[in-house]
Order: sequence, then structure tokens, then C-alpha cells
Amino acid sequence: MPQAITYYLQDYTLPPYLVEQVELFFELDDALTIVRAKSVLRRRPGGTAVPLVLDGQMLVIRQLRLDGRPLAPHEYQQNEESLTLHQVPEAFTLEVETAIQPVANTALEGLYASSGNLCTQCEAEGFRRITYYPDRPDVMARFTTTLTGDKIRYPVLLSNGNLEASGDLADGRHWARWVDPFPKPCYLFALVAGDLTRIADRYTTQSGREVDLHLYVQHRNAHQCDHAMTSLKKAMAWDEQVYGREYDLAVYQIVAVDDFNMGAMENKGLNIFNSRYVLARPETATDDDFEAIEGVIAHEYFHNWSGNRVTCRDWFQLSLKEGFTVFRDQEFTADMTSRAVKRIRDVQRLRTAQFREDSGPLAHPVRPTSYQEINNFYTVTVYEKGAEVVRMIHRLLGATAFRQGTDCYFTRHDGQAVTTDDFVQAMEDTTGVDLGQFRRWYSQAGTPQVTGQGQYDGVGNRYILTLQQSCSPTPNQATKKPFHIPLAMGLVGPDGQDLPLRLAGEPGPVGTSRVLELRTTQETFVFEGITAPPIPSLLRGFSAPVKLVMDYPDDALAFLMAHDSDLFNRWEAGQRLTVRIFLRLLADYADNRPLVMPPAWGQAMGQLLENDPGDRRLVAEALTLPSEAYLAEQVSPVDPTAIHTVRRFLRTALANCWGELFLATYQANHDPEGAFRADEEAIGQRRLKNVCLSYLLERDDASGVELAYRQFQQANNMTDAITALGLLANQDSPVRQLALDTFYDRWHHDPLVLDKWFSLQATSRLPGTLAAVQQLLTHPEFRLTNPNKVRALIGAFSHGNSLHFHDPSGSGYTFLAQQVLTLDPLNPQIAARLLNAMSDWRRYEPHRRRLLEQQLQRILATPQLSKDVTEIAGKSLGS
Ligand code: TRP
Ligand code: ZN
Repeated sequence: MPQAITYYLQDYTLPPYLVEQVELFFELDDALTIVRAKSVLRRRPGGTAVPLVLDGQMLVIRQLRLDGRPLAPHEYQQNEESLTLHQVPEAFTLEVETAIQPVANTALEGLYASSGNLCTQCEAEGFRRITYYPDRPDVMARFTTTLTGDKIRYPVLLSNGNLEASGDLADGRHWARWVDPFPKPCYLFALVAGDLTRIADRYTTQSGREVDLHLYVQHRNAHQCDHAMTSLKKAMAWDEQVYGREYDLAVYQIVAVDDFNMGAMENKGLNIFNSRYVLARPETATDDDFEAIEGVIAHEYFHNWSGNRVTCRDWFQLSLKEGFTVFRDQEFTADMTSRAVKRIRDVQRLRTAQFREDSGPLAHPVRPTSYQEINNFYTVTVYEKGAEVVRMIHRLLGATAFRQGTDCYFTRHDGQAVTTDDFVQAMEDTTGVDLGQFRRWYSQAGTPQVTGQGQYDGVGNRYILTLQQSCSPTPNQATKKPFHIPLAMGLVGPDGQDLPLRLAGEPGPVGTSRVLELRTTQETFVFEGITAPPIPSLLRGFSAPVKLVMDYPDDALAFLMAHDSDLFNRWEAGQRLTVRIFLRLLADYADNRPLVMPPAWGQAMGQLLENDPGDRRLVAEALTLPSEAYLAEQVSPVDPTAIHTVRRFLRTALANCWGELFLATYQANHDPEGAFRADEEAIGQRRLKNVCLSYLLERDDASGVELAYRQFQQANNMTDAITALGLLANQDSPVRQLALDTFYDRWHHDPLVLDKWFSLQATSRLPGTLAAVQQLLTHPEFRLTNPNKVRALIGAFSHGNSLHFHDPSGSGYTFLAQQVLTLDPLNPQIAARLLNAMSDWRRYEPHRRRLLEQQLQRILATPQLSKDVTEIAGKSLGS
């Protein structure tokens, strides 16, 4: 086994040398690129004379000069990970010339080739694959970058900052020099060289500065950029309005590439994007795709302040930029679309992916204390739970004080590399609010459980609410101290109206929805002047990332489902009711009792369709049963077959009970002849209609299949086409293959659309799905070196097809293990992410648990494993 080095937060020390300025020269060529780096370094004031250790991997040294003098071999030492100069003066110039091989770079970290173009990805530690350098975010330098390359192959030469000069060279080459005036850590460095089309627009900032907006894509995609450009301008305006932040360079550049490990990267002035978060038109992108593009464009743009102007001291502080920026992009999307639906979807993701992580062997705090491979810590905990932590601060402080806090944070730390603690400190300093205990959200892992108990005192006209909190142990944290939990709540009266809330001791009511602050393991809140038994609506808007346990009677949930003024909790009441029914039926299933749909539940669900739809998106969410992943979170041990079967029974029962209503709603919202519209109302109609359609296919007759096939054929937009095709992919019907083939013939030239085609075959519930996936691995359009393809096929199967991935034969596990091992030498980041699907093996019933464990052991026993996969497999097994 490779020896795993663990890095610890507590070992942080200041950088011994700082870089004032760095000039980079690239002679670009996809087989062999020459990099010259000329840096002005200086010992940190107050630091001591120690050897200079620079990070570097897979670099061939061609020349080293110190203050212009070539270094003799005895003056330095090179190993796999670093270059050490034994003795350096207090201030000096270092010139390093190295050679790298972009085409051989399948890890997509450092400088690599994608579709014939060259691009970089330096976060977190990719810059060390470009040159020897102190590759840590607290070393910030001014960068000047000169690119030279063949004029035909690389007509476009881009880097961070502003273009200073460019020109032609002999032998068909040309050059461009970029100067970035803002000091930055090297993880924000970027370059792009290639044959790309430029889409140009402009933006005037609130203070009247003109900014050029440049979007670069492959020529064939030039007609798919409007939405991304519009999104960028919306994001720029929003950040000015909501945070008072404006852009700071003369040009903002976005480049779309097909091969990319993540969603996108916020490199200063030169964002590099996975093309799936740029390219869109209605025929090729779904409503969800459009929303995701707007969100990711905004996310990367917002990083210019929360990440770039103020950056992280070290990688343990990753949530400083990511948690905050996710919170910012979530709020942006809430303002652009439907706030309640956005919140519901974010909470769904948190409660499936993040709660799962928090209760398993990979659990870690929002600010981790150790890691082996930092790439493994770009997690739902750091991102999404980190965003929840910022959201809680926002709720505790209120919008106005929160804004004062962020103003202070940005002003105080502009140009610095700081910690999550600095962020919280700025919030405290501006508002005087004590967030001392609150800081535990950053340091303690695990999902707290809050148990509520209510008691109505009809004599004293009081309602007594007792709240308790606890949190299970997580790796290296056996016991937890109580969290400071903001719990938004209201009391709903018998007429469905919120009651005025007056806590004991208060002179009068303070609104009808308020935030209780739970700080100890148990606290009691007494509400006065309550003249009839109320129904409590707790954790409104999901005000804290906790599991709320509350023993509601079924009819109380049905009541909240119909009346709660908090739209999130209205949806949540329906989900709770369904989970409860589901758990009862799961017990019946386990005991071989017949499954029967409880009429009251069916009634409550049908009511959603009968009432005036209002926000159709919201109705669509309410009609959607909790996912298999969420249901699996509610039981122990997990039997995926049972979960799938019982959930499907409930869907079929609803479909049989309300078939006519589903059909009527489908027809009322389906307009096959109408022109395509992308407004909120049209999106809501498509969502609601497509949920209804999905139920219609659960019935025994063939009419649902016919309806879906017709929708598929007639669709003038991808949302309708792909929904119908996905439903057909679950049907053992002759039109299934016909539809898949038709779709392939139409779209085989568009890689992003093909990803959808791969995915819906990988997530089919039909028998034989694994065999189909294995077959698709050999499809000419599939490429193991393209992360989007890997995610679309292998990722969709192992993370999104619980039924077949967890087939009791273990075939899904053997398959995934094999894919992880094949992929690991090519792209360890992606291999490790795939492997994550096995990390929660202990939650499954004994038979599957054993099979999963065997595959994890098989992986860990394989020689030459990457650090990425070693860490995930090792921690999963608990070794
Ligand atoms: N900072 C990027 C974001 O959140 C994340 C990212 C993009 C990334 N590419 C990466 C992280 C590669 C690790 C490796 O927007
Ligand atoms: Zn980010």
C-alpha cells in the first residue's frame, strides 16, 4: 500500500518565502510545452533563513537560475513532489525552466488538452504540475503571463487579467502578454490556447465602469451562448444590488471545455467551464439545465469577491469561499426563480447526499482538521452544509446586519488569505452578536437531531414546546457539544391561520413566525395566550441542517400540508406523511403482508391536484414522492429492493386512484402545438405535466406509454423530450428501442445531449440494465477520459440506480470496483468520486454489506493506487 501522508490543520505555519511577482512564459505545444517562470521571492518578514522548498510534480527541469546564475547540481535537490534549494538569500530572483506534456495529461489537473485546445485547472494543487512554485493559497503574487504558440492551431491565447500586448513571430507562431494587477494565489492561475469563437457583450457597472464580457466556445457551439451571457449579466447586477460588489477588471472571460473534472472554475478574470454549464438552447437543454447554467455562471462570478479578492489561508478553510459562494448562488437563483422550490431542491440535496456523508465513514466538519488528498474534500459537507452554516448566520443576524457583516469582511480582508474564523469574527464585530458557540458548526461533524414535544395547556391557555438536541459520534469525534440552532417556527390555529406568538415574560406578541435559539441539550418555550390547541410548524424554511423528530398525528400533517403559511413546511408535511406511510408499508412488505394504500394519504395527495394549482412548480414538488435515497436515510439496515418496491407500489396506487385527474392535469398543461416559452409559468406547466405523465405510466394499461411516445415525438423542447424518453426507458415496450434510436440518430453529434441518452439508459429500472451499461461502455461515443461521459454512464448507474447497483448478486459492486480500478491511473479525482457510492456500505443489510466490503478490500489491495482512491477506500473500510 502507498504510504499515505496526512496533513493537519493544527500544523499550519506561515509560508517561509513570499512571491512578489511572477513572470510566466509558455511555449505551447500539446505534446511538449516549455514553461519558464521568473519569480521575485523574498523571505517572509520575521522568518528565518531556511531552505526554499517548491512544490512540483511530473516536471522535467531544463534550467535553474538564481539571480541570473545557473545552479549547480549540488545546490538543489529534486524529488517526486518538490524541489529544494538548500541556500537562498533574503531576496532573490529565481528562474525555472521546465517541460510538461499536455496530451499525456488525462488527470485534467495542470495544463491539458481538450478537443485540440489547451487549458488549465489549478485548484486545488494543479499549478505544481505546471512549474515549481510554493503551491499554497496564502502565497499571493502578481502574475504576468506570456503565451506563444502556433497561430493556426492556437489563434486564441488567453490568461488572467488584461491583455497588454500581442504580436506575430516567425515560423507561423504568435504571442500574447497578459497582466493581472491583482495579487493572487497560484490556484487561480489559468491559460487557454485554441481555436475558439468569441461571443462578445458589455456590462456597465454601478459606478459606470465598462467591462467587456467574452465567452469562448468551439465554433460549432456559437449559437448556444445566449443564455450563459444573459446569466452573467444578471449575476453581475445581483451582486451589485445585494452585496454592493462590482467587477474589477476591464474584461471578464469564460471558456467552455468538454473535458473538465468539476462544474467550473473561478480563475481570476478567466473562468473555465465544463461546457455543460455554458451551452444551451431549448432543443438541447432542459429547464433544469437552464437553471443550473444560470446558477453556476453566478457561482463562479460571485467567487470574484468571495474567493478571489478574499481567499483562503489554507485548504482546510475551503468552505470560507465555497460555503459562502454556494449560499450566494442559492439566494441568487431563489430571486430569479421560485424561492420555495429552490429551497426544497437544495434541502433535498442536503438531506440525501450530505446527511449520508455526515453519518458515514467519510464524515468531516465543514472545516476539516485533516486530509490525505485535498481533492477528496470538495464535498457536499464543505459546499452545501457550509452554505447552510452561512444561511444560519444570515437568519440569526437578519438581512441588514448580515450585509453590514459582509461589507466589513470584504473591506477588512481584501487582498488577504483568511480563515472561516475571520469570516465569523467580521460578523460578530459589526453586530455585537456572540457567535462563540455557533462556531461549533465549523468544527463538529455530524447531523444534529432535534426532537420536539408539544403540550397544550387549555386551562392556562399556553402551549409548551420542549426541544432537545443530540448528535451521533463521527470519526474522531466521539462526543459533541450542543450546537447553537436557529429554529424558525410558528403555531397554526384550527382555522389554518398562524397565531400571534408571545413567549412567557414578553409584554405582547412578536409576529406569527419567529426564530427560537436552541443552545443547550434541552430547552422549553412557553407560548401564552393560545386559546385552542395549535399545530406547531417547526424548522420553517429548513432553518438549520438538522433532523427534526416530531411525533405528529397523520391528520396534523395533512392539515399542515393544506394550510401552513410556510411553503417549505407545507411541502415538508406532505413528505413526512408519505415517509410515515412508507415505513408502515415497508414493515408489511418485510412480513409478507399485502400492501394497501391508506385512503387518507391518497386523499391528501389527490387534494394537491384538485385545488387551484397556484405555483405549479410547487405542486409538482409536492406530488413527487421522497426519493429512494431519502427513504433509505429513514431506515436501518437498508434493503434497496424493498425500498424500490414499496415506493413504486405507492406511485402505482396513486396513479390508479387518481388516473383521471392526472390525465386531466396533464392535458390542461400540455400544449403540443404552442410555441416554446421559457418563462416561469411555462416551466411550471412543464414540471407539473411531466410529473402527471410519470404517474400515468405506472398504470397497467398502455395509454401512458402512448402518451409518452406522442410527447416524445412532438416535443419542441428538451425538457419534454427527455422526460418522455426517460419514462419510456423504464418500459418493456417495443417503442422503447424505437425512441432511443430516434433520439440517438437526431443527437449523436451533440456530446452533451448524448450524455442524457447514456444516463437514462443507466438509470432504467428494467432488468438487464447492468448488461446494457456494460455494452454502452464500448459505444463509439463513450470515452473513459471524458468525465461527463463517465458521470453520465457509470456515475448515473452507481449513484442514481439504487435498484440495480445494489442487485443482491453483487454484480453492480464488482462492476463499479472494476471501473474505479480502470479509471484510477487515468483520472484519480473521478475514480475517487465514483467510489464514494460504496462508502456507506455499513448501512446495508448483511448480505450486501459483505459484498460491498469485499469489493472495497479488493480495491485497497490493488498496487499503485492513487492517493485519492486510497483515502476513500481506506476510510470507508475504517482502516
Ligand atoms: N472552485 C471550483 C468551484 O467551486 C471547484 C473546482 C473546479 C475544482 N474544478 C476543480 C475543485 C478541480 C477541485 C478540482 O467553483
Ligand atoms: Zn465554488
